[in-house]
Amino acid sequence: MIIDNYTDIHSHLLFGLDDGPRDLEESIILLKMARDEGIRTQFLTPHYGPESGYTPDAQKIRENFEILKARARIEVPEMTLLLGSELYCAPNQVIGRVERGEALSMANTSYLLLEFNEWGPYRQTAEHITKSMLFLRHTNWRLILAHAERYRDFKGKQSLYRDLVSGGVYLQINAYDLMDQPDDWVRENTRWLVQNRLAHFIGTDAHRLKKRTPVMRSGVDYLYQHCDEAYADALVKGNADKLIAGERVPLSY
Ligand SMILES: [Fe+2]
Repeated sequence: MIIDNYTDIHSHLLFGLDDGPRDLEESIILLKMARDEGIRTQFLTPHYGPESGYTPDAQKIRENFEILKARARIEVPEMTLLLGSELYCAPNQVIGRVERGEALSMANTSYLLLEFNEWGPYRQTAEHITKSMLFLRHTNWRLILAHAERYRDFKGKQSLYRDLVSGGVYLQINAYDLMDQPDDWVRENTRWLVQNRLAHFIGTDAHRLKKRTPVMRSGVDYLYQHCDEAYADALVKGNADKLIAGERVPLSY
């Protein structure tokens, strides 16, 4: 059982780039909250995609990352920070953006974290999400669907999650959605994903002090109470370790 050594592969805690913290001080406060949630390896994955309204400059991302790392070394020395992007998945564009260096892969590996529209008139269907992710599997990139549990169009179509995973796609879930999520369907869907061992990575998707602060511990507790220990260990740290090392993460357990 892993205690207080979790890896959060999805957050917006790097300041000044998207809808995350506005400045360095806010980033540091949030990193301390993440540390108190037991996180020791923290990915910073700012949104990237003209379609989602965020196109932070890669140079600026790296500069802000170095500034945050320097300060974090003093304020939260127990934490390791790693860089990535949460890429809006426009299937014909997204890979080119990474390959041209406009957006970043996860910790310089071949893993990409991809998101779709969840809300409003442009929210995307489960079929579109599945088709797009499986289409991109023909590249050499390894694909992770961000907060897989939140796409409500999967209601009644949960078999598409199995199609994704058997087609080679990894699923990330938000720890918050296992326990604290008030929406019954999203919470139960998250639990269904872990009970069926279809999730591979966990994250907070934390943004800023006024929008989704880091939550990890309650979700981790749920995993250790309801899943076998080896799977919970893989989800909270082991699989992320493999990702960081550039190794292949197992798709099924
Ligand atoms: Fe996110």
